[in-house]
Amino acid sequence: MALEKLNVVSIGCGGMGWADVTATASHPEVNIAGCVDVDANRLKNATDHFKCEGYADWREMYAEMGDKIDAVIVSTPDHTHAPAAMEGLNRDKHVYCQKPLTWCPWEARQLSIQAELKPHLSTQMGTQLASTVSKRQGIELMRNGVMGAVEEIHGWSDRPSWVQGQPRVKGSDPIPDHLDWDLWLGVAPVRPYKNGRYHPGQWRGVFDFGCGAIGDMACHIMDAPYYAFDLFAPMAFRTDCDDATEDQMPTKQIVKMTFPGNIYSSRDSIPFTWYDGGLKPSPKAMGLPDDFRLPSNACIVIGDEGTFLAGHGSGNRLFIKGKEVPLNNPKIEDRNHWHHWVDGCFGRVETMTNFGFAARLTESMVLGAVGARFPGETLVWDTKNVRVTNKMEANAFVRRKYRKGFEVENL
Ligand SMILES: NC(=O)c1ccc[n+]([C@@H]2O[C@H](COP(=O)([O-])OP(=O)(O)OC[C@H]3O[C@@H](n4cnc5c(N)ncnc54)[C@H](O)[C@@H]3O)[C@@H](O)[C@H]2O)c1
Repeated sequence: MALEKLNVVSIGCGGMGWADVTATASHPEVNIAGCVDVDANRLKNATDHFKCEGYADWREMYAEMGDKIDAVIVSTPDHTHAPAAMEGLNRDKHVYCQKPLTWCPWEARQLSIQAELKPHLSTQMGTQLASTVSKRQGIELMRNGVMGAVEEIHGWSDRPSWVQGQPRVKGSDPIPDHLDWDLWLGVAPVRPYKNGRYHPGQWRGVFDFGCGAIGDMACHIMDAPYYAFDLFAPMAFRTDCDDATEDQMPTKQIVKMTFPGNIYSSRDSIPFTWYDGGLKPSPKAMGLPDDFRLPSNACIVIGDEGTFLAGHGSGNRLFIKGKEVPLNNPKIEDRNHWHHWVDGCFGRVETMTNFGFAARLTESMVLGAVGARFPGETLVWDTKNVRVTNKMEANAFVRRKYRKGFEVENL
């Protein structure tokens, strides 16, 4: 039967989730049927606004509302993305899920497999800048080879802007009445609650919950070359950093990956380097003028004819022999990332950052968090089997054991 209104539930409706659910709700064919949040204050804010059902536990929401809804938005911390999103796919729901699509590579691969088995479902990762004109122009220009054949790819971010590189915080604080800490932990191992350290928004640098700056920003920044050059997974990767702890990502790192060459590259492999925590490549080595000021967040593709700079929301630029040249931008219409997903749910369009694409990108980017546990070691990646082949301990971070009671079919 044809859909009249899309009944959507928002899982994690505070923080970025509030932006996601309000942007989705602004589509005229959407009804927000429910919201889920482990923080009762955030939940009340959303259910009062949308006059909808409210739940603390997304498993309960699916059990009670599963046959009344069409779609879910997942905007929780990273470690809960895959379980909440996979349960949606298992129940034949369209899914919009924040970036990075998943916490670990295994989850990404499994989501892509299930999404491929259900092509009638619309899926989208929450990298809203991917829908902008400038991002899509950049992709087309790069794919058309304005900088020649690809030789190297570099990307960087000035994040983290939250705590990283610290030992696990000691002690515990009373759990606030409005927070269900056990549900917040979800699939992750139990640890005591500490004020201001995890919820809200402070969990990113902690290995158990987030993937640090590379997890936060690389899906936003590296998606353009990934899309343009049809990249999948690296053959090997290595993280250089000196202050990762057992609990947390390092304050800064350089992650080097080697991708197989393809029709877009000049050689049989493509070196791909990520920098964060304020580290950046040198403009001169990138084929840019010596005095060039690199933006805080961006990526660069060095080709055999020039250098293409794709800013994070700051446009595209091309340099040939160290001099900037004008871009012949293709005509592209603006679109709304959330609405495009909704239009996909009605079968009118195919989303760009669907789980097929988003999972490939995420699988590689979150390898940066796996590598940070083994600084300075080159880890060999077996793409077919989703595992590290030369360091068996690393595979405990490629696929995690879910806490009892939070297991989800297909993960
Ligand atoms: N696309 C973007 O530009 C952008 C910007 C910021 C954050 N994000 C992403 O959005 C997600 C959330 O980030 P944030 O900064 O808003 O974090 P946050 O901690 O501020 O908010 C997360 C929300 O989810 C709720 N939550 C936590 N665990 C939950 C669970 N198990 N079930 C239901 N609700 C739960 C929290 O109470 C909170 O309301 C992350 O994946 C992050 O990477 C994306």
